[in-house]
Amino acid sequence: MQRMNVVNRKNALKVVKELDAFPKVPDSYQETSAAGGGLSIITFVVIGILVISEVSYYTSTDLEFDYEVDTNFSRKVKLNLDITVAMKCHHLGADVLDQTGQDVLGYGHLQQEPAYWELSPKQKDYQQFVQQVNDYFQEDYHAIQHVLWRMGNPTFAGGMPEREGPKPSTAADACRIYGSLEVNKVAGNFHITAGKSVPVIPRGHAHLAMMMDLSDYNFTHRIDHFSFGDKVAGVIYPLDGSEMFTTYNYHNFQYFMQVVPTEVRTYKTNMDTYQFAVTEKNRAINHSAGSHGNPGIFVKYDLTPMMIRVTEVHRPYWQFLVRLCGIIGGVFSVSGMLNGLVQILMDAVCCRLKWGNYKTQKYDEAVSSLPADPLSQTTSPLLSTEPPEEIFGSATLSDNRPTPVPTPQTPNLSVLHQQ
Ligand SMILES: *[C@@H]1O[C@H](CO)[C@@H](O)[C@H](O)[C@H]1NC(C)=O
Ligand SMILES: *[C@@H]1O[C@H](CO)[C@@H](O)[C@H](O)[C@H]1NC(C)=O
Ligand SMILES: *[C@@H]1O[C@H](CO)[C@@H](O)[C@H](O)[C@H]1NC(C)=O
Ligand SMILES: *[C@@H]1O[C@H](CO)[C@@H](O)[C@H](O)[C@H]1NC(C)=O
Repeated sequence: MQRMNVVNRKNALKVVKELDAFPKVPDSYQETSAAGGGLSIITFVVIGILVISEVSYYTSTDLEFDYEVDTNFSRKVKLNLDITVAMKCHHLGADVLDQTGQDVLGYGHLQQEPAYWELSPKQKDYQQFVQQVNDYFQEDYHAIQHVLWRMGNPTFAGGMPEREGPKPSTAADACRIYGSLEVNKVAGNFHITAGKSVPVIPRGHAHLAMMMDLSDYNFTHRIDHFSFGDKVAGVIYPLDGSEMFTTYNYHNFQYFMQVVPTEVRTYKTNMDTYQFAVTEKNRAINHSAGSHGNPGIFVKYDLTPMMIRVTEVHRPYWQFLVRLCGIIGGVFSVSGMLNGLVQILMDAVCCRLKWGNYKTQKYDEAVSSLPADPLSQTTSPLLSTEPPEEIFGSATLSDNRPTPVPTPQTPNLSVLHQQ
């Protein structure tokens, strides 16, 4: 029984041994060459470069986008704005009207303060910077997330800087309206029009615009900020920095917005925000030309039922390992093939030059290694005094003479003879 076990184990060991994919070759059978060494150095350098780039690829992160139905029905949405209109404040009213028919005063209160239409140099710089960033995102394929979200804290999070230097001597010619409103998560309409708003029972409100001259109307405006949700660093909104001019007193500006709830979870920031897409339409009001409507700035917004969740993820480590093995193994085997090719080419080029030497040398070797048996003299053609071309030259094959067999491989003639 024990012997059987021993035999089985021996067989098993043999099978495992035969499966060895790494047969050892004694050092004496290995040949090294300068070309091979050079190729090895190149191989290691290439592997090093690829491994470094792979590691940097692995340590960088990806943003994953998920889309789902926004089921948070209890949420309120903050509407933040900072708009300057080229009109006197006491001529302006700003409020929200939405599908709930809620009282206009229930959304919160916006600040109004007299301002100057002309910006100070520092403010102008800021505005230009924001405009440039916005243009950059709009002109090409530059997704905002690739540039901003991972940075965490871009510089324009601070908003428009305060006016510096002495105040202009003229009276304030514009009105800055700013602040936040808590709006419901339903479609609505934020507007800035002439006249203070007055609630009207049972539903809605009216703007009382009495005792205003035509020249008091000027809805030229500048949007320093317009956003939904909590103000977070790392988001730039498409309307920020924009300016609209009109030379008509009665002018109607309309913005149509689709607001998309967005949750961003990166390693640097966590934000619940809202992105929006906006289209703009404006026209002069001229009743005699058939263009009716109210002068003012109207922002019609709607919330999409889908929300976007963005998460920053690391690439899986097993993928990294697979790619690493692929790189190392692949480069090694390709360089092995190259090495073989180089050897063949080198042999072809070098040895053709030494062809003559090589032939005579081989011939001498062949003759001297023949056994000194007298029988062989009759059977082996090698001992004839013919020129050595026969051994290596291709002409031999077409001759009638038997093809010579290389000496070391000839059977031991004396053994044959004895049999
Ligand atoms: C809904 O949104 C509010 C405000 O952002 C948040 O406090 C609340 O946790 C959310 N609820 C769910 C179920 O996500
Ligand atoms: C409105 O004000 C702007 C800025 O001061 C000015 O450029 C524009 O011509 C004015 N428009 C009208 C109709 O007065
Ligand atoms: C309104 O349209 C009429 C007819 O096209 C034109 O004569 C008039 O100048 C326009 N008014 C303004 C304020 O542009
Ligand atoms: C040939 O065989 C004989 C007898 O077996 C032996 O002595 C001799 O060394 C052999 N020669 C060669 C070249 O192997």
